[in-house]
Amino acid sequence: LLTGCAGKQETGGDSASVVVGFSQLGAESSWRIANTVSMEQAAKAAGYGLMMENANQKQEKQIDAIRSFIAYRVDVIVFSPIVQTGWDNVLAEAKQADIPVIIMDRMIDTQDDSLYRAYVGADFYAEGVRAGEYLIRKADTLGADHLRIVEICGTTGSTPMQDRQRGFMDVIGKDERFTVIESVDGDFLQSKGEECMRELLQKYGTDGIDVIYSHNDAMTLGALNVLEKEETAGSKDMIIITVDGEKDAVDALKAGKINCVVQCTPHLGPSVMKLVRDVTAGKEIPKVYHPDEGAFSDFDDLTDPAVEGF
Ligand code: AHR
Repeated sequence: LLTGCAGKQETGGDSASVVVGFSQLGAESSWRIANTVSMEQAAKAAGYGLMMENANQKQEKQIDAIRSFIAYRVDVIVFSPIVQTGWDNVLAEAKQADIPVIIMDRMIDTQDDSLYRAYVGADFYAEGVRAGEYLIRKADTLGADHLRIVEICGTTGSTPMQDRQRGFMDVIGKDERFTVIESVDGDFLQSKGEECMRELLQKYGTDGIDVIYSHNDAMTLGALNVLEKEETAGSKDMIIITVDGEKDAVDALKAGKINCVVQCTPHLGPSVMKLVRDVTAGKEIPKVYHPDEGAFSDFDDLTDPAVEGF
């Protein structure tokens, strides 16, 4: 089903005649939902038709959607790839059809960068570095000499999973105070975050875990649900580091339940639509665009109004 499309043949005028085919990877988190809304609102504000397909976490569905956009002859294809590999063939078809492709949010792994015109998304490696830097500072402040870390990872094979892990490990990996005792796949889902936390607690108990590094807020909030039940049974505090910055996570930081929230903005729609405008006008566009991001933590003044979630 194609939704939100103004209809390529039905509209007139410059911006009104532009149709963007958008393959969203799923609806796995509040981040993703906010990202979809950002794309819809930005397309509307620009006066573009948005033909959107939600792939429900299936790469095959994304490939089918891209093929349908090619068949429809949209002006620009935008997609957020669920995993990094496996896109070369379909993107070669888009190139063959002379339809520019903009990759949004997650990145692909390819030897041929002529297959896409631009990438708009977070620097996930830098996010992992920020998470690691926070942990070093926290350990220094506490005078901790040994911290056991569990890592709840996002979707295996996705850019944020790989780069958030790599950035974090590059910062803490050689510091002997830290041991990652287990990395588990939580698929960026709250339900899996809960499941992972339950299993980790069964295995290590609350006393065997000092730090939780979770690759997104949805999984962290799931883990917190489980921990809160444990805490009523008198467990110790853990250092909890999360990524995204959705409102519930920032509120949990303010309430002292999370220690650090590394930001990852879902509001990529306006930057994407600006590139759509430039590319359809035949202008040169930058190959890579990363939004500015930072982190909030218990080292900050959390009463500052700038500390807010999306
Ligand atoms: O690709 C961005 C990640 O995907 C966000 O961190 C996560 O919440 C989403 O599911």
